This record gives sequence, C-alpha cells and structure tokens, in this order.
Amino acid sequence: MFTPLSTGIDIGDQASKRRTFAIISHPDAGKTTLTEKFLLYAGAVMEAGAVKARSGRRKATSDWMALEQQRGISITSTVLQFSYQNHIINLLDTPGHRDFSEDTYRVLAAADAVVMVLDVAKGIESQTLKLFEVCRARQLPIITFLNKYDRPGRDPLELIDEIQQMINLHPTPITWPVGIPGDFRGVIDRRNKNFIRYSRTVRGATTSPEQIIDPSQAANEEGIYWDQALEECSLLEEVGSNYDQKTFLAGESSPLFVGSALTNFGVRHLLDAIIELAPAPIPRNNILGEPRALEKDFSGFVFKVQANMDPSHRDRVAFVRVCSGQFQRGMTVVHEPTKKPFHTKYVASVFGSERDTIDEAFPGDVIGLINASELRIGDTLFSKEPVKYPPIPSFAPELFASARALDTSRYKQFQRGLTQLEQEGAVQVLRDPKGDYPLPVIAAVGQMQFEVFSHRLANEFGAEVELTPLPYQLARRTDEKTAMELSSWRSIRVLARSDGTLLALFESKYWLERLQNDHPEWELDSIANSI
Ligand code: G4P
Repeated sequence: MFTPLSTGIDIGDQASKRRTFAIISHPDAGKTTLTEKFLLYAGAVMEAGAVKARSGRRKATSDWMALEQQRGISITSTVLQFSYQNHIINLLDTPGHRDFSEDTYRVLAAADAVVMVLDVAKGIESQTLKLFEVCRARQLPIITFLNKYDRPGRDPLELIDEIQQMINLHPTPITWPVGIPGDFRGVIDRRNKNFIRYSRTVRGATTSPEQIIDPSQAANEEGIYWDQALEECSLLEEVGSNYDQKTFLAGESSPLFVGSALTNFGVRHLLDAIIELAPAPIPRNNILGEPRALEKDFSGFVFKVQANMDPSHRDRVAFVRVCSGQFQRGMTVVHEPTKKPFHTKYVASVFGSERDTIDEAFPGDVIGLINASELRIGDTLFSKEPVKYPPIPSFAPELFASARALDTSRYKQFQRGLTQLEQEGAVQVLRDPKGDYPLPVIAAVGQMQFEVFSHRLANEFGAEVELTPLPYQLARRTDEKTAMELSSWRSIRVLARSDGTLLALFESKYWLERLQNDHPEWELDSIANSI
C-alpha cells in the first residue's frame, strides 16, 4: 500500500533549493577530479581520493565500464546528488566525447545549467567543439571553469577570446588569476577587488586554506603578478566583460572562474557560483509551450534509458527528471504515451553502479526507475492533471553500416540487443520498409557509437556482430510519395525507423541539393530540430 511520506511540503521552496546541472568537458580536462572536489567541499567525503570515482572506475566490473577503461572515456551518464549550503545539488554526468553528443544533448534536456571545464593549456579542443555547440543550442546558462592553472598553459585573455570566437559565448570572468599558469598564487574577486590567496594541501586531499587580502597588501606581497592581474582586469572592464544575469540566463554570456581542481584552487568559488548564479528549476513548458507550475502534481520526463549498467543488476533503468510536484516512491503515475498506470515501486538514485533507494523527490531531482521496460526516451509521466512535455529531438545520423549477426544461432539475442540499444538511443536502427534488404542498418552520429554498439551486443547479449560501412553521408526525412520517386535512384536508399519515420540516405550533399533544386515539391526535410 502506498502511504504518502511527508505532507504539507512547500514545493516551491524545495525547488528553489535545487540546482541541477551537468559538467561538460573534453576528456582529461578534469571533470572527474572536479566532481570529486565538489564532494570534498560539500562535505560528502572527508578526503578527496577516498571514494574517488575514477579509482572506482578502475575496479569496475561491468561491461560498459570495461569499455570505458579501454578507451579512457566515460560513456554512461550518472547522476550524483549532494547538499551544499542548505541546497541540494544534482550533478548530471555527460560523456566527454563528441561521438556521444546526442547523449549529451539528452542529458542537457534534464539540466538547468552547465559547467564547462576547459584545460588552460588547451582551450576549446576541436573534438569537443560539437559538445559545446550542443550546449549553446539548448540555450542553457553556462558557467566556465578554466582548469589546471597550476600548470604551464596559455594566456587566459587569449582563451577568453577563443571562447568568444569559437562558440560565440561571451565570457565574463568573476575571478581572475594572480600569477601565471604554473605559478598560481590566487585570484582577484572582480566583484570586490579582493585578493584570495590559495595554499596547497597534501595531494589536494583536503580543502585548500584561503586568505582574503585587501588590494594594498596584495600589491605589496605579489608585486608584478598583482600589477599584471589588475591591468588585465581593467582591460576586461574596458571591453565590457562583466557579469550580466540576463545574458547568462539566456546562455549568451558565461561567468568564468579560474582554478585548479587538483590543488582545490577555485573550487569553492565555483561551487558557490552554482548556488548563487545558476538558476533553480523553473516551471517547464509542455508541448504547447505552456508552463506547468512547479506546485502542480508530480510530472517528469524520461531523458535517458540505460540497461545492464552493472552485471550485478542486469536490468534497465529509466532516468526521469522531476518537473513538478512531489514524487513519492510507491505512487502510481500515468505513462502519458499509453495513458496506462505506472507503479513506481522500484526507484533509485543512481551514481555509477551505486544505488540508493529514494523515497521522495522534487522538481530538479532525477530518479531512476528500475525495470521500467515500457518507458522510452522523451516519455512523460504525470500524476492527476495530464501533461505532455516536448519530445527530445534525435540527431541526423551521418554514419551508416549494415549489421549482421556473426553467429546465426544467436539471432534472437542479436534482435533483442538491437531493440534494447535502439531504445536507449545508443544508435538508430533503420530497416528496409519493403523487406528487400533483410539486414538492419545502424545509423550513428559518431564512429565510437558503432564500437559501443558492437561491444555491448557481444558482451551483454552474447551476439557478435559484423558491421559493414555504407557509403551514405546524410539523411533526410521523407514521405511515401517521395520515397516512390526516389526508388529509381540507385545511389539513394529509403529506410524506416521503428517509429515509422522514413529516412532517405544520400551519398553526398551535392546529390541531395541537386534533387532539391530539380524537385522542390519533394519532401526532403532536415530531421526535426536536429543539430
Ligand atoms: P576527465 O574526467 O575530464 O577525463 O579528467 P580527470 O579528472 O580524470 O583528469 C585528467 C587528468 O588531469 C588526471 O591526471 C588529473 O589528475 C589531472 N588533473 C585534473 N585537474 C587538474 C588540475 O587542476 N591540475 C593538474 N595539474 N592536473 C589536473 P592523470 O595523471 O591522468 O590521472 P590520476 O592518476 O592523477 O588520477
């Protein structure tokens, strides 16, 4: 029997205490280290390194974790919740590779803000450019952290210029470094012009002591470093690189912090900024663009589905972002696409392979519904007053390969794997609507999605797969009438997604443009809202 846990709770107040954000960065820029230091500063761990996510990963036993280790990438998104300064922080992890930018995009649908971590020696790396563009496309507020300032690196003014030029985001530094990369003394807080001097602790295992020093003392003690920092600050002033809440919330400007996650320098400032600057959850618009008030009954949407996260829990988790109301474990909600009741007996907060059962959640929180096989990415769940949130758009695939089960006796497992991985959005699965070509075509945005697909099919479903690359480079959505016309073109193939959408595959942009010119009446649409 479902018994409500707590009643009389002020949902608006609960929501105002939540900050839900994702960190995006290039692999190795320091996302894992920063996450761990957040936990240290939040008091969730006593010593950094004690429960280091990274070392946990090394010991990891699951199949996808093994692949992550081989490739040195993080594939799966995890959710981490901790409290800091009387607030609850929900940190969503994103894969740090452009090949998984579609996955990142889905996670960002559940986030209210983003922390972009850049390595001061590298700036915006080409491989990650797509991830940042995805982030810009969602118009989420972005806080920038220039990491690894304890090491030799590039001139921070140059990096600011690069961010502006490459992703059209206007950085507005809140702190500015005193010292040079490699000889990092501390930062000026541009809001009050104070100098904050950092000191190292052994292995950065405990929080770094900070000394607040007034400008005249700083000038005496830091000499040329202080003068240089002041000069750079006046330059920032001159070009108008000052914090502006309106453009920050619109995802156009980005408050920037400088630091070193390894030595803990600047981590507190960043965490404070997440509380002070990043927005709390606000009412989310339904599919018609109308907001559903936070105080209304429970609603949320699935932004990620992941199976077999851990061999000890061979099951399927649907991650739901709570948008309104109070979620209580055991409550029965409505699955919007089928209008059927959905019982939420098994629900957990999930971080990597660690699971805790959770009993209640509020707007901004993420819950993991276990073995919810009927839930798909983008599905809405609600209680009482119906609501439907907008679907999460999929990307236009750019890589295509036909897939064949190597061992025909494992055909059933192969099919099961295909269905599962398609539902997770790991790849798109296309089939010939007329059945002339029996082999399914796997479509992806990045090459590494194919590797994950093959690896997971073999390891989780016991079905080795042979992928044969196909020469197509782009896809357009089409209708049956145009599909008939296209059938006479040998270099074009029309395939169907499992939701029935027809996709026409082209070998080059040139052919597509020629056809569009010659037959403007044909239906060849860019895939809805895709990037
Ligand atoms: P990621 O999750 O973004 O992939 O990066 P991660 O935190 O794993 O950091 C990648 C490497 O960069 C690690 O070194 C980490 O210690 C180092 N690092 C992170 N932040 C800083 C920083 O502020 N300054 C310096 N100097 N290094 C930093 P590693 O040798 O690959 O791993 P480990 O053996 O130290 O764990």
